[in-house]
Amino acid sequence: MKDYVATILQNEKIAENVYAITFETEEPVPVRAGQFGDIAVGGTHLLRRPIAICKAEENRITFCYQVKGEGTQKLQAMRVGEKTNVLMPLGNGFYVEDGEKKVALVGGGVGVFPLISVLRAYKATKEISAYIGYRNKAAVCGVEEFAKATNFVAVTDDGSYGEKKNAVQAFEAALQAGYRPDVVLACGPTPMLRALKTVTDREGLNCFVSLEERMGCGIGACLVCVCDKTNGKKARVCKDGPVFNANEVQL
Ligand SMILES: Cc1cc2nc3c(=O)[nH]c(=O)nc-3n(C[C@H](O)[C@H](O)[C@H](O)COP(=O)(O)OP(=O)(O)OC[C@H]3O[C@@H](n4cnc5c(N)ncnc54)[C@H](O)[C@@H]3O)c2cc1C
Ligand code: FES
Repeated sequence: MKDYVATILQNEKIAENVYAITFETEEPVPVRAGQFGDIAVGGTHLLRRPIAICKAEENRITFCYQVKGEGTQKLQAMRVGEKTNVLMPLGNGFYVEDGEKKVALVGGGVGVFPLISVLRAYKATKEISAYIGYRNKAAVCGVEEFAKATNFVAVTDDGSYGEKKNAVQAFEAALQAGYRPDVVLACGPTPMLRALKTVTDREGLNCFVSLEERMGCGIGACLVCVCDKTNGKKARVCKDGPVFNANEVQL
């Protein structure tokens, strides 16, 4: 992990209220799928914002972000050629074991972006099926990446793109049709992860989830991001996660 000085190469809209920002760093960044960066968004009063690393190509790192509040508004206002600091790579990321050949990705909302990094990392060696849920057609993004999966199902809450379903329902429909992955990797809103865990528990499937919590330091020091584990202990989402076995954390 290092605090990189990063120059903005591109900061473009890719869907309604969603932008892709690409930085160039002075040297290549070694990234594992599912890790994130803590991006300085300008202004001394604002904490850095944690965003999943979507693509890492040598010293070009791309993040995709939804504009929510002051931090992401400032990020969106940054222009090509500007420099900022990005602390990365942070967190543990997703591991896929050698024996796990069939990988299911289940994602919704901003949770789709770390799953793109998983797909990029494993598409050559694994059979990847992606079940991705968007709010509506205007929110659809990343399809050119997910189209490289062995199987890709995109759904929307209102049926304006793909079937009217959420990502978990799309995944469940595949299971009912006979699909059985070796491992399920997921990222999305907590209610989605909770619903997914009900399904993976019922089916006896191994499931890993990437959690989102508000963060302070991003490196395990401030304890702003702690979550409850099922064994009664606490975990730091930034350092012990963001990826956890779904049975290990309280969703
Ligand atoms: C490990 C990790 C990876 C993430 N990856 C992505 C990503 O790839 N793309 C993306 O768009 N966002 C991602 N997020 C969420 C992103 O960090 C927040 O949306 C962002 O920090 C909001 O900052 P803001 O100043 O714009 O909004 P704020 O003004 O800080 O908040 C606006 C609204 O967003 C909510 N919010 C703020 N931070 C979080 C958070 N961490 N989780 C859930 N809700 C939050 C607040 O409660 C509030 O309702 C990630 C978060 C984590 C922890
Ligand atoms: S954000 Fe400080 S410990 Fe996780």
